[in-house]
Amino acid sequence: MQEKWWHNAVVYQVYPKSFMDSNGDGIGDLPGITSKLDYLAKLGITAIWLSPVYDSPMDDNGYDIADYQAIAAIFGTMEDMDQLIAEAKKRDIRIIMDLVVNHTSDEHAWFVEACENPDSPERDYYIWRDEPNDLDSIFSGSAWEYDEKSGQYYLHFFSKKQPDLNWENEKLRQKIYEMMNFWIDKGIGGFRMDVIDMIGKIPDEKVVNNGPMLHPYLKEMNQATFGDKELLTVGETWGATPEIAKLYSNPERHELSMVFQFEHSLLDNEPGKEKWDLKPLDVSELKAVLSKWQTELGNEGWNSLFWNNHDLPRIVSRWGNDKEYRVRSAKAFAILLHMMKGTPYIYQGEELGLTNTPVSSIEELDDIESINMYHDRIERGFSVESIMESLNAKGRDNARRPIPWTAEANGGFTTGTPWLALNPNYKEINVEAELQNPDSVFHTYRKLIQLRKDHPIVVWGDYELLETNSNVFAYYRTLGEERWLTVVNLSDSEEEISVDARFNKVLVANTEDEITDLHAYKLSPWQAFVVELSGN
Ligand code: GLC
Ligand code: CA
Repeated sequence: MQEKWWHNAVVYQVYPKSFMDSNGDGIGDLPGITSKLDYLAKLGITAIWLSPVYDSPMDDNGYDIADYQAIAAIFGTMEDMDQLIAEAKKRDIRIIMDLVVNHTSDEHAWFVEACENPDSPERDYYIWRDEPNDLDSIFSGSAWEYDEKSGQYYLHFFSKKQPDLNWENEKLRQKIYEMMNFWIDKGIGGFRMDVIDMIGKIPDEKVVNNGPMLHPYLKEMNQATFGDKELLTVGETWGATPEIAKLYSNPERHELSMVFQFEHSLLDNEPGKEKWDLKPLDVSELKAVLSKWQTELGNEGWNSLFWNNHDLPRIVSRWGNDKEYRVRSAKAFAILLHMMKGTPYIYQGEELGLTNTPVSSIEELDDIESINMYHDRIERGFSVESIMESLNAKGRDNARRPIPWTAEANGGFTTGTPWLALNPNYKEINVEAELQNPDSVFHTYRKLIQLRKDHPIVVWGDYELLETNSNVFAYYRTLGEERWLTVVNLSDSEEEISVDARFNKVLVANTEDEITDLHAYKLSPWQAFVVELSGN
């Protein structure tokens, strides 16, 4: 495979509203992000995926875009954006923009024109029908909304303020490519493509993801925009299998660099049901799924590696132990993921071992998905307790609480009132404390990133799962003569391993335990380490 910069990249996702507020209005902003670039450079990341900062009424925190070529006033100005790109570049950090082109805001000029003027070309940029079918919105309720004025229904797979775009319209596609080129000309490092697997939808046949025109559109996009540039492009593809992922990311097909697959992320809800229908994680399923993704792409695709993003609960609360073993289990998940093959993504605060923020009432939440689900389930007869349990486990605001920078009021995130309250544990868990403590979660992430930079085996080595008892996740990476072994105990109990190998040195570990003979070794709860094996 031809080597690209993004094979070696480590990406950090910034959710702008919650990262750092520079002007005391309680909302994170672009100058706030720029002011923290030195912190990110210290962590060692080489790219930032910036969640949307475009002009937006913020119905879905910016995933509802009113103008793709303007910055939302709450986040700053286009000059602030240019400055962020330039300052990041000085630190060898590239900016990956969020590309949300499955839908716009209903306040986008195209949609406004489409409604006011049903004869305008913009009308066909969206999807209109005289009668709705029974397609559901991902944010609860019908996917169709009636527009009184023009007497037709429009399609919205997310909120009704997020009308779906009609990719069959060629003129619309050209407009999107022009907009992408505007950003490429600014010197950005790539695009993260929001629900990109939905652009080939055929609503009348209830085809939502992976429609027949999806890949032809992506090929067309590639040619019209980033194809001849060195950009990182990553698609959000909830339904991808390894076979599907190869269609996107096989370099010979000229589509994307990689996709986010979510198969591992779906393991803790009841199969076939909603994400709110909880089921405990079975570690052996996690091993099977991640190992499948590690081995099946071969040379015909590239993995992205992630536990967290702005839509998912905090990993240490989700599958770790965020009480007694918070630090240790946060590090265990870091070690497990960062020694795998693919491009790792760190979601803001993950490097601090931030936890979920359980709440007792819906009033304490802001997220539209959570609020819609709450009302929907109340109507369907669910108890408030069961709904809150689901929201505390999986609700998106768990990941969206402002970043605690210090132990001061509101974690030093803002001098004003934060748009969403911080997790009350910010006095103990914050950036300042993490930086000062050499044994912090932060320093483990930093070390893992450095190992990746220093050792091609982490980027290119072959992966092989080791047979172990079910709570232990262990695998080899091999490159030429070199062989590394990663061992992670994903449980609160002691576990034994027996590996027929000897090692030279320990590369990273999350406990002080002495690592001795691997032929019979007892792991303490959540213990994780990486060793370099010796030749025969
Ligand atoms: C993606 C985003 C999510 C958003 C949705 C609609 O899944 O990650 O935050 O709500 O698309 O744009
Ligand atoms: Ca602000």
